[in-house]
Amino acid sequence: MKEELINTNGDLSSTDAEDTVKETLEKYEKYVNPGFAQLMRILGTTLEVKTEGVYMYDTKGQKYLDFLSGHGVYNLGYCHPKVVKAVEDQIKKIAQTSARTIMNKPMADLCERLAKVTPGDLTYSFICNSGTEAVEGSLKLARAATGKTQIIAADNAFHGKSLGSLSATGRSVYREPFKPLIPDVDHVPFGDIEALKAVINGNTAAVILEPIQGEGGVICPPDGYLRAVRDLCNETGVLLILDEVQTGFGRTGRMFACEYEDVIPDIMALAKALGGGVMPIGAFIATPKAFAPFITDPLLHTSTFGGNPLACAAANATIDTIIKEDLPKQAAEKGKYLLAKLNKLKQEYPGVIVDVRGKGLLVGIEFADEGLAGGTIYELEQQGILVLHMLNNPKVVRIEPPLIITYEQIDFMLKVLREAMEQNKSLSS
Ligand SMILES: Cc1ncc(COP(=O)(O)O)c(C=O)c1O
Repeated sequence: MKEELINTNGDLSSTDAEDTVKETLEKYEKYVNPGFAQLMRILGTTLEVKTEGVYMYDTKGQKYLDFLSGHGVYNLGYCHPKVVKAVEDQIKKIAQTSARTIMNKPMADLCERLAKVTPGDLTYSFICNSGTEAVEGSLKLARAATGKTQIIAADNAFHGKSLGSLSATGRSVYREPFKPLIPDVDHVPFGDIEALKAVINGNTAAVILEPIQGEGGVICPPDGYLRAVRDLCNETGVLLILDEVQTGFGRTGRMFACEYEDVIPDIMALAKALGGGVMPIGAFIATPKAFAPFITDPLLHTSTFGGNPLACAAANATIDTIIKEDLPKQAAEKGKYLLAKLNKLKQEYPGVIVDVRGKGLLVGIEFADEGLAGGTIYELEQQGILVLHMLNNPKVVRIEPPLIITYEQIDFMLKVLREAMEQNKSLSS
């Protein structure tokens, strides 16, 4: 089984592979970041040289089965042929826009698709280049649309690391060195509607939430929470921003996670999987009412590269493929299967696995401590399976494969995980 799925590819090994790794590490040391170089050295990292489907290959010819998806980027797997072809076709025509005053069809096509694929009256989109920019723009829009300043976010949220998004991000280790962050941003416990009620006031512009906290450790709020937040925002005239940067595009078993509670935000932030794992792209989409300030002054918020035809062509092909292959349904079904098996594993290893949770193929395994999580990540990687912990919660290992993963590949990962649990058990006993 292992041989079938992994280590079958030897053709990438080359005699100068070791030299290339050494040379790259030296450049990391001299020109990228010595701290990173040190980390790479400790981890014994090689170089990724090729990606295809659900596999990544390194210079040693090792084939890694991806259960990480670049933190939610590779919903379609790596280099999906439809997305690659769309980009190849587009690059022969026009890659970057020449002037804002000349229209850009791939971007208009993408905005139309986003309006159709997102729920309710989310209509107008601004296209940018990353998740943090999508959140940045959403926060700016909320302040401009309401004329108010307070933003309420959740403890342990992850919204990105540029200054505005970081102000909403809830992990102090990322925040402290950059204080003071933007003013008037408050945090409340995720899932606690009473706590939110207590801080909303006459100067609140928006509440920003992830429908499921990804980097926080795959935290699903109590049933009814998002609906209650929507109702509260309606009653108080506060905008609701949903950050679907990681949960969007089928990851949780619906096209967007907010669909589980039929909640339509005023502004939705998107990125990651939108580029099909081929191009970097982000977006925020808003209702006509919330988008009004950017209609009055279309130059109020701009980006040189945002909406470039190349990235938009990738995004158009991505959305079409997600719909055609019904990836949200696939994620829902495979996620249920995976979660049931992981729950069994949790029962078998109670001192090691504290909890398993998630929706669709956004699944987290919470270990008793960071060491056990780290050890498991290492063990899996040794066996050619890529997983990683969550940025805000190192005790939680993400199981976040491409949505095209097969049941056989899931079973293989589970088998290797069980072996790692045995290893953990013997270490902890
Ligand atoms: C929910 C959420 N929002 C925003 C971001 C930031 O995205 P980016 O890294 O593209 O800036 C992330 C990244 O993990 C995320 O998970």
